[in-house]
Amino acid sequence: MTHQPTSAQDLLQVRDLEVEFTAPDGSTLRAVRGVTFTLRRGETLAVVGESGSGKSTTALALTRMLPGTGRLSTGSVLLDGQDLAAASAEELRAVRGARIGMIFQDPMTALNPVLTVGRHLD
Ligand SMILES: Nc1ncnc2c1ncn2[C@@H]1O[C@H](COP(=O)(O)OP(=O)(O)OP(=O)(O)O)[C@@H](O)[C@H]1O
Ligand SMILES: [Mg+2]
Repeated sequence: MTHQPTSAQDLLQVRDLEVEFTAPDGSTLRAVRGVTFTLRRGETLAVVGESGSGKSTTALALTRMLPGTGRLSTGSVLLDGQDLAAASAEELRAVRGARIGMIFQDPMTALNPVLTVGRHLD
């Protein structure tokens, strides 16, 4: 894995991202391993992979909105230099929806699986 030098143009730098879930039998499932990429301002990145390969989990991990037992176990997520992987709940609330967001599949008809139904109506 190559670590590119930081540039002022770099908006999002994701380094060595790893996401784990705890399975019902107590074992640890490593769903995402070693994801590293840099997005510069104005750039678009498409992530392609088979179903279950970890695309949605990677996106959810960026703002630590992982469902269930999911946790960002390793890595850094630098948004304009601020590490969201190490940010407090309060810091994350200030960033989510304001600086970084996620549009889910079928956004007009589906509920966000990370939120309770009640939260959608708030
Ligand atoms: N809520 C969860 N509990 C336990 N494991 C999960 C959970 N969500 C995802 N995973 C694990 O993470 C892996 C990656 O799932 P993810 O939904 O990120 O795949 P995907 O690439 O987005 O697939 P698709 O193309 O079907 O949307 C799954 O194979 C599963 O092992
Ligand atoms: Mg998906």
